[in-house]
Amino acid sequence: MSEKTKIEIMDDGPLIVSDLKLLEDGEGNGLAIKKKIALCRCGASENKPFCDGSHKGVGFRSSLPPAGSSVPAKEGDVVIRSLKNGPYEVCGDIELCVEDDSALSGDDPYYICRCGASENKPFCDGSHKRVGFTDK
Ligand code: FES
Repeated sequence: MSEKTKIEIMDDGPLIVSDLKLLEDGEGNGLAIKKKIALCRCGASENKPFCDGSHKGVGFRSSLPPAGSSVPAKEGDVVIRSLKNGPYEVCGDIELCVEDDSALSGDDPYYICRCGASENKPFCDGSHKRVGFTDK
C-alpha cells in the first residue's frame, strides 16, 4: 500500500513534500523526485522548483496560516505541477499541513505560491504577475 502524499509548509521556508508520485514542470514534463523533496516558495532558488536554501539569504518571511479542516480527497491524478512563471498546482488527494501536522482546508486543485509575494500564503493570490516572477 502506498503512502498518502503530504505537503508540509515550513514557516519562512519551503514546502516539504512526502510520497509524491509525479511532479511536472510548466511544459508537463515529469521531474525526477525522491521520497521526500523540498519545493521553493520564496521565488529565489537557482534550482527551481526545488529549494536550494536561498530563502535564508533573501530573508523570506511567511506566517503560517491557521489550521482548518482537511483538504478534501478527490478522484483523479495526484500530481503537483510547477506552472510556468506561476504557482504550484496541486491536484488530487494531497494533504496540506502546517508544521504541527494540522491540516488546512482547500479546493481541488489548489494553488500554492512559489514566487514569495502572495499576501495570502501559502496560497497564490496572483501576485506573481505583479512582481514579474519567472522560472529562471
Ligand atoms: S505564485 Fe506567488 S502569488 Fe502566485
